[in-house]
Amino acid sequence: MTIAPPRAGASFHRSHRLRRTAALRRLVRETRLDPSAWVLPVFVDARASEVTPIASLPGHARWPIARVAEMAERAAAAGLGGLLLFGLPDEKNDGRAAADPLGPVPAALRTIRSRVPDLALIADVCLCEYTTHGHCGIVRDDGAIDNDATLPLLADAAIAYAAAGADVVAPSDMMDGRVGAIRGALDLAGHVETAILSYAAKFASAFYGPFREAAECAPLFGDRAAYQMDPPNAREAMIEIAADITEGADMVMVKPAGPYLDVIGAARARYDVPLAAYQVSGEYAALHAAADRGWIDLRRAALESLTAIARAGADVTITYFALEAAEWLRR
Ligand code: PBG
Repeated sequence: MTIAPPRAGASFHRSHRLRRTAALRRLVRETRLDPSAWVLPVFVDARASEVTPIASLPGHARWPIARVAEMAERAAAAGLGGLLLFGLPDEKNDGRAAADPLGPVPAALRTIRSRVPDLALIADVCLCEYTTHGHCGIVRDDGAIDNDATLPLLADAAIAYAAAGADVVAPSDMMDGRVGAIRGALDLAGHVETAILSYAAKFASAFYGPFREAAECAPLFGDRAAYQMDPPNAREAMIEIAADITEGADMVMVKPAGPYLDVIGAARARYDVPLAAYQVSGEYAALHAAADRGWIDLRRAALESLTAIARAGADVTITYFALEAAEWLRR
């Protein structure tokens, strides 16, 4: 049996009409990429005297304090929205080094602030880069994390970063109650205008592997499953976000991004504060690794992944692709 071709006026939807040319596709695009909504993660290393490439994050490096403003200048020239700063200290201890006003993050904030005014400066707040054991909080004798004892250290770190010029502090430790503790401490110290971007729904993910190499913060024992979220739980993510907004978060984040687009979509539908998503190190490294083997086209895959994150509902995307993707959009 042959099927007759459709008659003129046949009643089916001709979706191809608006896909026919690049101009038409561009015109009806629902989601547009905009580098001003991207945040570039930057690693500042107190021990480095030279820019030290990070093997697990192609194109990224650990920056010495004296040169980190160059990175900020590049980000500003590319039209990026901001930087997210991570620090590697001279020496790790019980985590108190995170609050050292002379530490890598405050020092970087001061030099960037004085040289590159028009960029949002976000400081990651966590102890894991500053502890000898690599966990995000104070560890008790029995090996468990002491949530409540960790809160004042996080608050002290947030104050040090606010004092050094951070526009936003971003707690990534996943301790309960830290947003409230940080907000209260910032206000008491007079930093009422410093905003909080809470890593509200941060999952215990396999995709953080390359970052832990970059920041030298892989836990020496155990894992982070007792404080970061269990990957199967999307409803619980809504509870985490609600709690952080109640405690005073100005913006909230879902992390990782690509494998958690459903969580981003649900958070966008439910909450009205600005929503950030973090395309993490493993998402970035996996695309690079596949592209190196010739299995995917890096530029197309990266832009597609960033489009998916924006389409799911993220207002702000933290991504290691920020600089090169801004460049791709210009060409
Ligand atoms: C610190 C922190 C981590 C990341 C951001 N902040 C590591 C972790 O939780 O293990 C991961 C970022 C990435 O993978 O790009 N707690």
